[in-house]
Amino acid sequence: MALKVAVIGATGSVGKQTLEVIDRFPDKFVPTLLVGGKNVELLQILGKKYGCSVFSPWLHGPAELPLDKLESSDIMVYAASTVDYLNYMSHFLGLGKPVCLSTKEIIVEAWPLIESFSGLIRPVDSEHSALWRIGAKEPGVKSIYVVGSGGSLRDRKREEIENATLDQVLSHPVWNMGPKVTFDSAFLINKSMEVIEASHLFNLRGEQISIVIERTGSIHALVDFVDGSRNVFFSKPTMLIPIAYALSYPSILPLDEETVRQPGDALGYRLDKPDFDRFPWGKLGHYALELGYTSRMAFSVADEIAFECFKDKIMKPSDIYDFLVKAIEDYRAISYPESITEYFSLRHDMIEKMWKEVRAI
Ligand SMILES: NC(=O)c1ccc[n+]([C@@H]2O[C@H](COP(=O)([O-])OP(=O)(O)OC[C@H]3O[C@@H](n4cnc5c(N)ncnc54)[C@H](OP(=O)(O)O)[C@@H]3O)[C@@H](O)[C@H]2O)c1
Repeated sequence: MALKVAVIGATGSVGKQTLEVIDRFPDKFVPTLLVGGKNVELLQILGKKYGCSVFSPWLHGPAELPLDKLESSDIMVYAASTVDYLNYMSHFLGLGKPVCLSTKEIIVEAWPLIESFSGLIRPVDSEHSALWRIGAKEPGVKSIYVVGSGGSLRDRKREEIENATLDQVLSHPVWNMGPKVTFDSAFLINKSMEVIEASHLFNLRGEQISIVIERTGSIHALVDFVDGSRNVFFSKPTMLIPIAYALSYPSILPLDEETVRQPGDALGYRLDKPDFDRFPWGKLGHYALELGYTSRMAFSVADEIAFECFKDKIMKPSDIYDFLVKAIEDYRAISYPESITEYFSLRHDMIEKMWKEVRAI
């Protein structure tokens, strides 16, 4: 019997690739509910194509998701660029059903509220999927490496980074992703988010996690064990592999993607330390880990605002750095919310306060 799949963020980059995996294995998966945002036209086309329910706030207003469709699904893919559906995700997990989670903002911001379901959460972010596959959840892990390709500004000088245009920032050399994550990648903010994500998902301390750069996007993660051994994960830079793995775990689907080069070429890959002088944003994940859960949440919320401000030319990259550091520090002493309702209330307050600060700049 095909697994019934609910896709939150079906019209986005990861959402569309999820549907591509589903299309390749129609005997294994069938979409039951597709949730999208502004791109209502595409959502309706997809709904017709799969003969399934669709939901968008731009189509249905502030109505609720069709809960019966959600509850009758076997598995959820959460790939929306918003945390708004956290309560639905938590409800789904509460039914004992697995969630393939791409939206790293949820893992960074809301981990204490979903941690009890960690056995049902399957990472989709490519680095974390790779870490999962090569043993980061197993006993005996010493340290791990979150690998990045360096983002769109990787070859730019400090002054060029400071004056980068939106077009330059959104031209990723390796990955074709949605705008917010591409912006985050350009400044290594994405790697900072991923350090926090890895710490939460694999229960590791900040000092056990390092960022490394591999320019071709062929190495996604490394795990070092206490016996001195090291696992490395190679694959083409495609999201199809992590999405398919999360959907089909523990089995591996015959995606037949081309293997990256030949194993004999492995020594030709180069791993570099990130240049934190040019990319100081890449250190903020460790800083937020040090200062606690509410600081991590504030970092992610502030980053959402920073992206808007960068697009509107209100903030330059150095302003973004100061803004993110301030957010992390401002919330260090604030206790973390105890429920999803309290989380959304704190999030709302953070957003209001941060926008006030922006307007005062
Ligand atoms: N893209 C990648 O390769 C990649 C890799 C790793 C992790 N991720 C993570 O996956 C998440 C999604 O990234 P993406 O690149 O796929 O983003 P994206 O292309 O911008 O897509 C975002 C999706 O969320 C939907 N959405 C936004 N607001 C919504 C709302 N209020 N209600 C319902 N749907 C809403 C969008 O709908 P509309 O387009 O219809 O507005 C779209 O379907 C991010 O957290 C990102 O960090 C992405």
